[in-house]
Amino acid sequence: MKKIKIKQALVLICISLFALSCSKSDDEVEVIAGVPTAYSAVNLTDSGFTANWTRVYRADKYLVDVSTTADFSTLIPSYNELAVNALTLDISGLNAGATYYYRVRAVRGALISVYSNVIATEIISTGPEPTTALKEAANFKVGMIVRSTALTGQTSDIILREFDNITSEYEMKMDKMYPSKGTYDFTAVDKIVKYATDNKLNLHGHALIWHNATPDWVKNFTGTDAEFEIMVKEYITTVVTRYKGKVKSWDVVNEAVDDGSGNPLRNSVFKQKMGDDYIKKCYQWARAADPDCKLFYNDYNFASSTTKRAAIFKIADALKVDNLIDGLGAQMHISYKGPAASEIQAVVDGTVSRKLLMHFSELDIQANPDNDLKVLTPERAILQKNKYKEVVKIFNSIPTANQYALTVWGMRDSESWLLDFWGHIDWPLMYNNDYSVKKAHTGFLEGLK
Ligand code: XIL
Repeated sequence: MKKIKIKQALVLICISLFALSCSKSDDEVEVIAGVPTAYSAVNLTDSGFTANWTRVYRADKYLVDVSTTADFSTLIPSYNELAVNALTLDISGLNAGATYYYRVRAVRGALISVYSNVIATEIISTGPEPTTALKEAANFKVGMIVRSTALTGQTSDIILREFDNITSEYEMKMDKMYPSKGTYDFTAVDKIVKYATDNKLNLHGHALIWHNATPDWVKNFTGTDAEFEIMVKEYITTVVTRYKGKVKSWDVVNEAVDDGSGNPLRNSVFKQKMGDDYIKKCYQWARAADPDCKLFYNDYNFASSTTKRAAIFKIADALKVDNLIDGLGAQMHISYKGPAASEIQAVVDGTVSRKLLMHFSELDIQANPDNDLKVLTPERAILQKNKYKEVVKIFNSIPTANQYALTVWGMRDSESWLLDFWGHIDWPLMYNNDYSVKKAHTGFLEGLK
């Protein structure tokens, strides 16, 4: 009997000890009591910031809220669950000058502590931009325009380091190559061709027929329409034959579509003298002169105008029936405000579905389309960077078989044709005037990831 009582007492002691240990749940109490303290964030650059908070004993994770509003009504996703007591927020598109807020809770199992204090961080500084060479990072040809007078020094160093495709900015246009009747001038083109050959750069020819670079003697042609056509045939044949095998592709006709209602063919001297068929004939002559050369049709507002896009595709379809076209050039003179990614994607989709090569042929992105800035602000530079990134991302996702090249229309901001064209200051390119890379360049690199 005594033995049984001792046994019962032992069992009772064990049970009550077990119950005591269960009800204590000290871990949980500590987690709930242990509210983290958030600290001011550091490295406030346009691409992110680092924040940390006190570690909470035996917390197994932290929930972090990041928001652009103090009430945390909209959260920046993907950064809200972390095992460590630090956060590196690394997303592009944080705007310099904007304020970001963060707060944190500790979690153990199903239990969550109350919120830490809130830290407001203003994104202020900008870090140095990476200098990775574009052509090393890209899986497609990256292009830059050239001038025969600037194939040396820092300009050339950057071309050779970053680019593997070149286009002549203006010296391979009719007014320069064929300035007067019967007299060609190939001095500049020969230099560019030699530069491309010596340095193993792909050379894209731009542009055989363009209303804006038609010499006066052609605009005011004295002779019959039949003689005009013979002259154009002889011109295209001469140029394409001269650079056969060296110029790998040509924009045969540039900007043939009018922007006006219904997007008819532009009423150029070529259309006037040869009829609507002038386009087909030009491509036939170019094809005959160099059957291996890739022939492109090139135009602007390809993304921003649905009707112009349709008119361009109509030209391509007509040429494709007779195997006279290999690709389409979308100039991409755009701005940080638009066209939208979906419109740019529509250009790509229409080109790929036609089994044609895609050339984003003249990319520049205005940062100051409304002329509201006197200097390029960090905020605007970031918006411009984001647009560069978006364009490159779209090009990068094109099937390899349809990717021709992505060419940027100018190196340094001060050299951009847009300054004259719009008559006010802008910074549409990827390099500063001292040749240092801008955020736009970083945007290009980020678009490749
Ligand atoms: C521009 C050049 O950048 C200028 O230097 C030149 O004076 C005029 O032409 N669309 C085109 C390009 O197809 O050839 C144009 O280049 C820009 C618009």
